[in-house]
Amino acid sequence: MLAPGVFSLWIDAPEIAESAVPGQFVSIYTKSEARLLPRPISICEINRGEKTMRFVYRVVGEGTEEFSKLSSGDKIEVLGPLGNGFPIPEKKAILIGGGIGIPPMLELAKSIKAAGTCEFVSVMGYRDAQTFLLDEFKEQGDCYVATEDGSVGAKGNVLDAMKEYKLNADVIYACGPTPMLRALKAYAAEQGMTCYISMEERMACGIGACLACVCDSKEKDAHSNVKNKRICKEGPVFLAEEVDL
Ligand code: FES
Repeated sequence: MLAPGVFSLWIDAPEIAESAVPGQFVSIYTKSEARLLPRPISICEINRGEKTMRFVYRVVGEGTEEFSKLSSGDKIEVLGPLGNGFPIPEKKAILIGGGIGIPPMLELAKSIKAAGTCEFVSVMGYRDAQTFLLDEFKEQGDCYVATEDGSVGAKGNVLDAMKEYKLNADVIYACGPTPMLRALKAYAAEQGMTCYISMEERMACGIGACLACVCDSKEKDAHSNVKNKRICKEGPVFLAEEVDL
């Protein structure tokens, strides 16, 4: 447990770890026969050498509760990697995570640092002083914090921190609650910045077959011929301007 209700899980999954990229997710199956739908969880870290992957998630129901009770050596069924993932930036980037949207930004930060293609800073928004993963982000480079209660960093949200610390970049990468993504989309448009967002939605199949996860989009989708996109298949990462929030 990293913070109340927030858990970290490493799994040994050689084939997935080999091909996965930051921003993708994995469907994790519960053992209970009554809960057949897997839970989609974003990849937080990939250790290609050890062929393992890390997931950091919040317990929000019986499925995630079950995962939080797993012990070392237990076996679980997973499907992945799923979704498209983040493109690695080539221009100065700001990586932004809000709440349980913070974990997927860690592997992105590590990948950018390893690729050495551009400068980047991270901005994380938490509720309070339970700043899970902050030390890991600090190892990757400069990072800034906003907390709703003002206990650490700037008081307010990630946008307040960006303004307070006068952070600027060419491209924003963000994952977090919809109001945060909506505010960042508007801010990026106003500032002429490119903005990629990773969206979360309740999913069923996770592989593009059931349409349980669609969001509204600007353009017609080639698959369904209506103005929507499947978050599990065309996403979860979208250019902010492509989707309606
Ligand atoms: Fe089935 Fe996305 S969850 S199409």
